[in-house]
Amino acid sequence: SRKVIIDTDPGIDDAMAILFAFETEQLDVLGLTTTFGNVPVDLATKNALILTELAGVDVPVAKGVAVPLEITPRPHADFVHGSDGFGNINWPDPKGKALEISAAQFIIDTVKAHPGEVTLIALGPLGNLATALEMAPEIADLVDEVILMGGAAIEYGNVSPVAEANIINDPHAADKVFTASWQVTMIGLDVTHQVLLENSLLERIKESRPEHGDFLHQASQYYIQFYRDRLNVEGCFFHDASTIAYAMEPDIFGIELGAIRVACEGIAIGQTIFAPEGMSFPEPHWDGVPMTQVCMEVDSQRLLNLFEKTLS
Ligand code: BDR
Ligand code: CA
Repeated sequence: SRKVIIDTDPGIDDAMAILFAFETEQLDVLGLTTTFGNVPVDLATKNALILTELAGVDVPVAKGVAVPLEITPRPHADFVHGSDGFGNINWPDPKGKALEISAAQFIIDTVKAHPGEVTLIALGPLGNLATALEMAPEIADLVDEVILMGGAAIEYGNVSPVAEANIINDPHAADKVFTASWQVTMIGLDVTHQVLLENSLLERIKESRPEHGDFLHQASQYYIQFYRDRLNVEGCFFHDASTIAYAMEPDIFGIELGAIRVACEGIAIGQTIFAPEGMSFPEPHWDGVPMTQVCMEVDSQRLLNLFEKTLS
């Protein structure tokens, strides 16, 4: 099975992704690393521990960055995920503790212990990956793949007309990740806005596997209410858990290759600017930028079926 580290800011859809990853035998989750984002990093760490205990797995958790690399922190997403990150359900505290080492150090050590074998799955702002690259640039060539939820190549943003939340929360970190020499696959709003997870699916998971289904269903109600109020849809978009499906069955998605750079200031801050493969631009910002695999199409039904089957 595929060795992965999940970097995360749980977060309701992060919880869906992590429990999905724990349940499939196709992935071997070597650790969770946490970041600020939906919630402050201490709470993200506590929530990651809750998820390991809920799933009954012995997976280490390492705490990561608390603030963006350069910009002033933006407000946390209480209005989307609740002030506890799990839809204000007052889940009991975990018993376990995070490792002593930082998220970035955990990533470096784990990648070096399994050269060429570890995939980094990133579900939040990208400060831990950027910090790991800064501390040990050689890991770029030792990682199998970086699969990240973030950005919008062609689609509108969800924080500004051009920016998606994970990228705008730390644009400098994201730009470092997209321009490093590892293989990045971007799962952004281009595909996640095509997939709506309905409450009925969560109800079926709850019926068949209450040990995690009850938590997922409870936590999701606040999130689904946010979508109902803000976007007038009945269900929630399938953001973070899409990365897990991609790691398992990449052909659920259709990919276009292109260079991605991130706007780091001004009105377009957080935009993932997409330069399709084959086009050349006489502008130095685009010199030598590696090709990202950008997901543009998705078989929505197949994706939702895989999620439901794995968690049921
Ligand atoms: C992303 O932002 C966060 O709120 C979600 O957890 C997801 O990672 C979607 O834009
Ligand atoms: Ca997230």
